[in-house]
Amino acid sequence: MFSWLFPKKETSREEQESVSQSENFRDISKVADFFKTLSGVTFDKQLSILESKTKSFCRQRDIYSYEELLEKITRDETLKQELINHLTTNETFFYREFKQIAELVSLVQEQSSPVSILCAPCATGEESYSIAIALLEAGVPPTRFHITGIDINSRAIEKAKIASYRERNVKNLLGDVLYKYFDKNEDRYDLKESVKNLVAFKVMNIFDHEFTMLGKFDYIFSRNMLIYFDLPTKQKAKKILESMRKDPSKEIFFGHADLF
Ligand SMILES: C[S@@+](CC[C@H](N)C(=O)[O-])C[C@H]1O[C@@H](n2cnc3c(N)ncnc32)[C@H](O)[C@@H]1O
Repeated sequence: MFSWLFPKKETSREEQESVSQSENFRDISKVADFFKTLSGVTFDKQLSILESKTKSFCRQRDIYSYEELLEKITRDETLKQELINHLTTNETFFYREFKQIAELVSLVQEQSSPVSILCAPCATGEESYSIAIALLEAGVPPTRFHITGIDINSRAIEKAKIASYRERNVKNLLGDVLYKYFDKNEDRYDLKESVKNLVAFKVMNIFDHEFTMLGKFDYIFSRNMLIYFDLPTKQKAKKILESMRKDPSKEIFFGHADLF
């Protein structure tokens, strides 16, 4: 009754229809192929997740089809980086799979010369900083090691450089370690500059030529990235990482879930 009194409602429905008519999101597999070629990350078994993530990305930017997105991305590096940031998963925390970090500490302690350590990928920095803290806790002086952390996600790298963490990310650290290396700032734990200075972070894709130009490392951590790749891509990534070892007899530290 009296519906003629509410013309606004009708208009907004019309507007909605015209928006959805102008959208033309059809073949998500083109985006999946593009993203796999670019980053190695496969959504082959999760196309519906990719679809909803990509649609929300496009709608925020007034892009109305996957074709338009792909066409814009080839011309716009910033947009490409934003899509990478939107589609990669950066879940990580301090002292994750600590046994491997403890193993690295023992290996470093056996050596007298300085060591270089690569974390590829490092996400928001927790793994690289965990290694630094564990080495310091074992009495290894900061002059004896240098850590490089790389990740394809530029937002994650920005967060790694800031190094201000939530409680859930530091939950594995014991109280004395936490208060020795962090300043508590309301609900955040801010890593001290002296530890931040021990890690160099860079935005990098492991499949880009510039990655191998980083040189060779004594120890390489590559944990919980290969889980996002299909088998041929895992093998390709493993080969690249292996080519970056100073000593080819040294095993790379992969995550337990990365197993081939
Ligand atoms: C789950 S995190 C793992 C972080 C940390 N290594 C750990 O185990 O806690 C996976 C990371 O891999 C990164 N990644 C995915 N593909 C990549 C690529 N081709 N090159 C570099 N980093 C990549 C993502 O951006 C994400 O931050």
